[in-house]
Amino acid sequence: MIKGKFIVIEGIDGCGKSTLIENLRKHFSDAVFLREPTNGQFGTVIRKKLSSDDILNADEMLELFLSDRAEDCEVNIFPALKSGKNVIMDRYYYSNAAYQGAMGLDCREIIKNNINRGFAVPDAVLYLDITPVEALKRIRSRSLDSEQYEKLSFLEKVDSIYKKIADDKYFFIDGNLSAEMVLQQALKKLGEIL
Ligand code: TYD
Repeated sequence: MIKGKFIVIEGIDGCGKSTLIENLRKHFSDAVFLREPTNGQFGTVIRKKLSSDDILNADEMLELFLSDRAEDCEVNIFPALKSGKNVIMDRYYYSNAAYQGAMGLDCREIIKNNINRGFAVPDAVLYLDITPVEALKRIRSRSLDSEQYEKLSFLEKVDSIYKKIADDKYFFIDGNLSAEMVLQQALKKLGEIL
């Protein structure tokens, strides 16, 4: 039986997820913090692909992310939830729908595919909402290297799909706010759930 709560944090690249998660760690020291792509066998391949020019097609990327998630659910997510731990996850199947959807696949089919595989279903999704232009400014200001997905037209597609697939689990947080305000909004929502 699942006893812990499963919280997912989502948003386009550069939305401020990493900062929020670092701040949440200080408030929820008992929770298990995970991220996808993982550091497992499939996640490692994904990260290499994303930072290289060796482009895989959308179906191949989808398969890699699904394999990574299957392993993550079996090895990390379900065991933690069953033991009563809360899990706070940096990206999950909404990323799959938004990013591989932006690569041309059907976003709703991707969500269905994930659910049909029996993956853990989130209790809430904290969505950090920021414009693609602002997100890219932030990405460019911190690094000169860019990953395959960090292009304006692509992030605009990702942004619009994230909003198209928003369900009743989504809690929108304005990503343009200060890191402290973003944290306060997230804590307020998590206080209702955890
Ligand atoms: P990462 O370097 O972890 O970026 P971030 O810190 O923004 O999360 O790379 C993750 C990338 O993988 C990100 O651009 C989104 C993408 N992604 C997918 O395309 N599909 C997926 O299913 C997941 C989980 C991530």
